[in-house]
Amino acid sequence: MLLLLLLLFKGLPCHGASTVASLLSSFHNLSAAHSSLSAPLLLGFHHPAAEEPLSYHFIQISSFANHSWAYTQASGWLGEVETEAWDSVSGTIRFLKPWSHGNFSKEEVKNLEALLELYLHSFTTEVQVFASQFQFEYPFELQVLFGCQMRAGKPSESFLNGAYQGSDFLSFQGNSWKPSPGAGSRAQNVCRVLNHYRVIKEIVQRLLSDTCPRLLASLLDAGKSELEQQVKPEAWVSKGPSPGPGRLLLVCHVSGFHPKPVWVMWMRGEQEQPGTQRGDVLPNADGTWYLRVTLDVTSGEAAGLTCRVKHSSLGGHDIIIHWDGNSILLILICLTVIVILVMLVVVDLRFKKQSSNQNILYPHVPNPAFSTRTNTRDPRSSGHLLCLAQDLWIKSKFLKNWKTLVVLYT
Ligand SMILES: *[C@@H]1O[C@H](CO)[C@@H](O)[C@H](O)[C@H]1NC(C)=O
Ligand SMILES: *[C@@H]1O[C@H](CO)[C@@H](O)[C@H](O)[C@H]1NC(C)=O
Ligand SMILES: *[C@@H]1O[C@H](CO)[C@@H](O)[C@H](O)[C@H]1NC(C)=O
Repeated sequence: MLLLLLLLFKGLPCHGASTVASLLSSFHNLSAAHSSLSAPLLLGFHHPAAEEPLSYHFIQISSFANHSWAYTQASGWLGEVETEAWDSVSGTIRFLKPWSHGNFSKEEVKNLEALLELYLHSFTTEVQVFASQFQFEYPFELQVLFGCQMRAGKPSESFLNGAYQGSDFLSFQGNSWKPSPGAGSRAQNVCRVLNHYRVIKEIVQRLLSDTCPRLLASLLDAGKSELEQQVKPEAWVSKGPSPGPGRLLLVCHVSGFHPKPVWVMWMRGEQEQPGTQRGDVLPNADGTWYLRVTLDVTSGEAAGLTCRVKHSSLGGHDIIIHWDGNSILLILICLTVIVILVMLVVVDLRFKKQSSNQNILYPHVPNPAFSTRTNTRDPRSSGHLLCLAQDLWIKSKFLKNWKTLVVLYT
């Protein structure tokens, strides 16, 4: 009966940032709430998307394997920043940022923690008890998304959605539980039961209309300096897997920037290349972002293309990476390798000649394994390094000379 009760706040054991994307995508079907989830946290960046709302949301994912086994994860998010995680082992909220309490008093935080613990515990037990009446079939997964938004500094929308097996199931609208369209008689049945509990509805309403907007506003305030931090991107280009004969996939990588909004485009001069494909902006472990932008071109078209990056941290000084620069570098590397190979062959031939003379003392060093010998005075360990060299012929020729060198060095 406490089912869905105190839907509240912060949350569960989270297995790190990598789960964020999967948590978010698993909510993809919660269409009503989806817009708020995908709204990036945009602060202090004049970007068209800056009109999008800021949100705080609580995510819960509960998996029920059978009538005796269930596992719940829950976490709290300010936009795309995880601020709280529920530790299911200790039954406490882990505050992930120094400012995760907002301006909530110790006492209010304690109360919320108690409410959350009671809720999560009751949720699991009650779902198990009601599973057959509600026609939940094991194994199943329930998800809860609870949160609120702010637009132009004012609280706008609050929402509470529930999903069963990854599909919209019910939501809290006004002051009652409503089955989602298409969720069928199972959802109608659950809502009918839930709607009998007036106290639960009042708690949910208060959390949606008061607690969440207050928390959101105070987190935005408390976390301001971190949220508005400007970190410059690094950018580099590389060649991706060939899309086909005579074609190149140019890849521009942009990494380490904050905040998230970024503009990256393949250009020819001032001309944006319409074939530019933008990947998803992915999180780095340190809270910065990564983006990959590709362009499929014929080999002949690649010359003269540039990758251009605009970001709020760059103060109008766009990063421009030339594809040519990269290919010149590659050519230089190839040339260098060829020159070295040629030298090796020449040296090799000289040794063959000299070995017939049997009298060289200071040969050139044709293999990197040999260069370690100046650091390694011990003949046996150097001998071992020599064994690593693939050319046994060189080894046998050098051993004598090298021993001479070791004597000279020591
Ligand atoms: C319930 O599921 C868990 C996890 O899959 C499993 O380890 C356990 O044996 C199951 N218990 C029963 C009674 O089926
Ligand atoms: C999500 O919704 C789409 C279209 O409504 C549906 O085809 C898909 O099966 C749903 N995904 C899940 C996991 O229910
Ligand atoms: C907490 O912050 C919110 C929003 O920033 C503000 O409206 C409220 O008055 C603050 N409460 C206290 C106790 O400072």
